[in-house]
Amino acid sequence: MSEIILPAVELPDSGVETPRGRVSVPGPRIAEKRLAVDPGHIFGLLLAARAAAEKAHAPYSRFHVGAALTMADDPVGTVFTGCNVENASYGATICAERNAIAAAAGAGFRKIALLAVSTCDSLSGPLPGRSPCGVCRQVIREFADARTLVLIDRDDASGILCDVVDIDRLLPWGFALEP
Ligand code: THU
Repeated sequence: MSEIILPAVELPDSGVETPRGRVSVPGPRIAEKRLAVDPGHIFGLLLAARAAAEKAHAPYSRFHVGAALTMADDPVGTVFTGCNVENASYGATICAERNAIAAAAGAGFRKIALLAVSTCDSLSGPLPGRSPCGVCRQVIREFADARTLVLIDRDDASGILCDVVDIDRLLPWGFALEP
């Protein structure tokens, strides 16, 4: 096992007084987190995400994406996968991450352990071009907890295997129906 340290992101609140009241600028407060991960599990999911991307139906964008995940509440560690499935209407397109999550949720599981995403056409590019879209972040949030990690595939001259984030860093202030 290897220990991953997600750094703290802590900035003070600020704001400005206006004649109508205070305009508040909330600072993020995300504590440092240390999680033990199995490098073999990470590598296996990245490979599974790349393989899933080969199944993408992407005749419009020609941008192939694959996702692979395991669920913390699945005792046998099934690897669920998905690819992006585009549609002539464009708007009916479903992303790879949401297809993989729907497969896991449909099998009865509710808590993502690790989710790998591979945008195999942009692996050597900057993080925004390899990251889950906003809709997928909100859907990941639905099935994430404090231990969930998202692995963003990468392949460039740096030798870095992937970028790792948790849901707080991926979607600060994500919408939640919680008391
Ligand atoms: N896409 C994904 O599958 N996942 C994301 O998180 C970002 C975008 C797909 C949707 C579309 O088929 C193509 O990438 C280009 O946007």
